[in-house]
Amino acid sequence: MARRQANRLELGGDDAVTQETRILGIETSCDETAAAVVESGRNILASVVASQAAQHAGYGGVYPEVASRMHIEAIHGVVSQALSQSHVGLEAIDAVAVTRGPGLAGSLVVGLNMAKGMALASGLPLIGVNHLEAHLYSIWLVEDEPDPIFPLLALIVSGGHSELVLMRDHLTYERLGGTLDDAAGEAFDKVARLLGLAYPGGPSIQVAAEGGDPTAFRFPRAWMEGTWDFSFSGLKTAVLREVRSRQPELLAASFQAAVTDVLVGKTLAAAEKFQARQILVAGGVSANRALRQTFQNRSKIPVRVPPLGLCTDNAAMTAAVGHWRFLAGQRDALDIDVLPTWPLVR
Ligand code: KG4
Ligand code: ZN
Repeated sequence: MARRQANRLELGGDDAVTQETRILGIETSCDETAAAVVESGRNILASVVASQAAQHAGYGGVYPEVASRMHIEAIHGVVSQALSQSHVGLEAIDAVAVTRGPGLAGSLVVGLNMAKGMALASGLPLIGVNHLEAHLYSIWLVEDEPDPIFPLLALIVSGGHSELVLMRDHLTYERLGGTLDDAAGEAFDKVARLLGLAYPGGPSIQVAAEGGDPTAFRFPRAWMEGTWDFSFSGLKTAVLREVRSRQPELLAASFQAAVTDVLVGKTLAAAEKFQARQILVAGGVSANRALRQTFQNRSKIPVRVPPLGLCTDNAAMTAAVGHWRFLAGQRDALDIDVLPTWPLVR
């Protein structure tokens, strides 16, 4: 394909690469089967997501065996649809980027095998991507907004992770801290179950909380002084103790306020300490309205949060990381395996 000047990535300071790319992204880390075609890490040409959420709702969580079977059924159609919607053929694609982890092993393997098959058949390079990193790069996909400015202080809050990460440049991550027990999304899901609200718990709590006073219950805030870590298990236990009060709106609102308070408070403190220019909030929980509002109200520096459609799992963000990794020269072998517990920073 034609190479035009679009992006400039500093590699080791002096040798710069300028290149336009088209990356096919594939994501199957949890319960969404997704494929996308993204141009130069910024423009979404197509993004297809087949969600299994309705099938898992009855179990109150993702049922791994069901998830991998459903990925197998969906993957071929989802990838074909993404390619046809993008109006570019495989011959115009530069690389296949795929989520290697973290996530459910049986789910990851479906996407990785699809990506390997495509790479083998077409001769395209294969690029393994970290799912947490992908959540961060969803912000580069927001239309009509300038690129984020480094250093960025990133909060990743999803069903499996709550991480504070400092990004001084592309693809460089310093982990400041993370949850010692439940992830923020996991806390939302568990508390929703305690309150008899539907799975996934985050959106259910958000809706229930709309009718409640967030100061009704004084739930604990675990500040974990002297660290950048989080802990949400004590909060969950505190909600459990009050659950018999049968006031789900008040409990939901007070719980949401406690989680939000700690996530925002610690992120802002870290941003100040490390002199971040902007804050980036990503992952499924970043869809939470109270969290977004509290960040906007309290932060003195810009807080970048992807639009709702990019907060939850999708493959456009996987392809966006693929662009930067492709420019940085990453090419993975066809025998790479999934990494279900892959940390963003070792
Ligand atoms: O990033 P994600 O889609 O999947 C991974 O865990 O990778 O995040 C899912 C999590 C779930 O725990 C869900 O309850 C939570 O994000 N979530 C929310 C909201 N929407 C989704 N939590 C709070 N408020 C929301 N509006
Ligand atoms: Zn995710």
